[in-house]
Amino acid sequence: MKDVLKAMEQRFSTRGYTKEALTRDELDCLVRAGLQAPTAANRQEVHITVVNGGDPVLREIEEEKNKKSGIQDPPHNFYYEAPTVLFLSAEKKFSWGSLDAGIAVENISLAAEGLGLGSLIIGCIKDALSGDKKDYFADALKLPEGYAFEIAIAVGHKAAEKEPHEYSLEKNVTYL
Ligand SMILES: Cc1cc2nc3c(=O)[nH]c(=O)nc-3n(C[C@H](O)[C@H](O)[C@H](O)COP(=O)(O)O)c2cc1C
Repeated sequence: MKDVLKAMEQRFSTRGYTKEALTRDELDCLVRAGLQAPTAANRQEVHITVVNGGDPVLREIEEEKNKKSGIQDPPHNFYYEAPTVLFLSAEKKFSWGSLDAGIAVENISLAAEGLGLGSLIIGCIKDALSGDKKDYFADALKLPEGYAFEIAIAVGHKAAEKEPHEYSLEKNVTYL
């Protein structure tokens, strides 16, 4: 298990996975990491739906997203054949829901890296999940009543490498 600083330094968005499924222990570790994230006022409102990579709902979301983006041939695979995709949703009426889900998804991403797994945070499907088929997808993903999709994360064994992104201390940090 990597320490948290190493995990932050080495994590990258993984856009390719082997077919190897995650174990129950790995899944438990990921969902616990999500729920261990802090939430505003300790509301603990973030819900996680764990979806198997072969579940037809993933193809349906993908079709809807491709339709919305006008992508037809070849269709874009947003999950990169990951064996598991976690969907995070939060209470619509709670103003901190999006931020809480963002913090939780990063905890999951770092936990995945700590376990030697790859992950990809997926936000681009939000329009597909909040458009005309919003209620259909909320039902298919078993979102709790009054909840809306916030963010997804694909997790699996890495079959693609990439350098972590570069960043600029000069541009993005001010010390007063
Ligand atoms: C909120 C959020 C949404 C993202 N949505 C997508 C997405 O839909 N598809 C994708 O391929 N990458 C997505 N990413 C990954 C970013 O493109 C990636 O983090 C960024 O390019 C930096 O690369 P790195 O993660 O490898 O350091 C998302 C990242 C964040 C934080």
